[in-house]
Amino acid sequence: MSEKSSVGVGLLGMGVVGGGVARILSEKSSLIQGLVGGPVALEGILVRDPQRSRSFDPPDGLITTDIDDILSNQKVDIVVEVMGGQDPALDYILKSITLGKHVVTANKEVMARHGPDILTLARKKGVQVLFEASVAGGTPIIAPLIRDLVANEIITIHGIVNGTTNYILTKMSKEGMGFEDALKEAQALGYAEADPTNDVEGIDAAYKLAILSTLGFRARVKDEDVYREGITRLTAKDFQYADELGYAIKLLAIAGKENGGVQVRVHPALIRKDVMMANVDGVLNAVEVQTDLAGRVLFHGPGAGDMPTTSAVTADLVDIARNVIGNVVPPAPIVLSESIGVRPMSELETKYYLRLNVMERPGVFAQILRILGDLQISIASAIQKENDDEAQRAEIVLMTHRAGEAAIQNALKLISDLDVVNEIGNLIRVEEWD
Ligand code: NAP
Ligand code: HSE
Repeated sequence: MSEKSSVGVGLLGMGVVGGGVARILSEKSSLIQGLVGGPVALEGILVRDPQRSRSFDPPDGLITTDIDDILSNQKVDIVVEVMGGQDPALDYILKSITLGKHVVTANKEVMARHGPDILTLARKKGVQVLFEASVAGGTPIIAPLIRDLVANEIITIHGIVNGTTNYILTKMSKEGMGFEDALKEAQALGYAEADPTNDVEGIDAAYKLAILSTLGFRARVKDEDVYREGITRLTAKDFQYADELGYAIKLLAIAGKENGGVQVRVHPALIRKDVMMANVDGVLNAVEVQTDLAGRVLFHGPGAGDMPTTSAVTADLVDIARNVIGNVVPPAPIVLSESIGVRPMSELETKYYLRLNVMERPGVFAQILRILGDLQISIASAIQKENDDEAQRAEIVLMTHRAGEAAIQNALKLISDLDVVNEIGNLIRVEEWD
């Protein structure tokens, strides 16, 4: 590697995050130069539509629609990928690394699916790839897992890593809103996209959990390995009953060591109200890491937005730029173990909340309890909630003791086949904290 006195940056994308990065590289150029030991300058900006008006006007001549203008530019030492999506972002990242350019990316989809391969290629080519903004936006969690907690064994990771769904759930919980109304409000405020599938179905959270568990457990975890349920089945009633029972409901991303492997799951969960994670509200994110040495460590803050995400991207950029100026080749951030696999969801043991709509008749409870008893599922509490005397229907809510996931899924099938059961309202797992 040759001596360098300045660092050139190629920016792929100039939307919400790219616009922020371009602005901060300009507005905080002296600070960044001081941190790095030399100037850090934008050398090119890739966009789709060069005519689009932007939140920040970059210096003339930098905008291009041709990736080769950036990749073939010898002055570009670091490529910052903030385009999003898999294609063509993955291709551009791989090409950049192959050409010996360092990469900063905010792309959770690419890192969740291809992170280990990208990092392996980077190691071979002697370049750095950093991706702090890919999980929890402006809240540091990637660097702590790679660096600050490196002497620890990670036991569990619990995250609220999707701000949009946390906003929706907060509205449903605090204001009794239905899912659709809360979603509309999140869309009106610009949190949820017109097509909210990635957020409300837990896809975004699964990407982020795949990244966190790969780093935390040194295991190859892809988004497709993550068991996933979204928030669309939750109703205002679930929040009301959970509240009466002393619980909040959150969309949790959970990873833990289990039977020599890792269990990775994203689903709504009941959390006791006195637990810190139960009180992370609105669009905020939080990740709690349970470790053997440091104990439980909580990272809490903004998970998205132009400036918080720019903060994370710029930190990665400064980190690499320092190494470029100092001519340092840093060691690979992690080495993965091939022997740590993902454990099946059927091995989970936890407590469950079950809401059922049943016929109002003698013996209904008894039939349901018999099914649960036969499958070794013990009931902690059972409450008959609303009655509709005219329709002869009632709603019952059961809380179980710890039970096996396979058993509860079996029980659900048998219960839904009973003539006296109109509908399985919801099954929500209870997440316990020590
Ligand atoms: P965005 O506002 O949609 O901006 C995307 C930018 O990439 C636009 O400038 C677009 O060009 C450009 N682009 C997209 N596809 C392209 C292509 N094929 N060729 C050339 N340019 C292309 O996205 P964003 O919100 O900034 O997000 C960027 C990344 O950061 C994503 O990976 C996202 O998940 C991640 N992230 C975002 C946030 C957040 O708060 N927004 C938080 C954390 C992580 P045009 O402008 O010409 O359309
Ligand atoms: N859509 C994500 C969220 C933001 O709502 O948290 C980017 O990761």
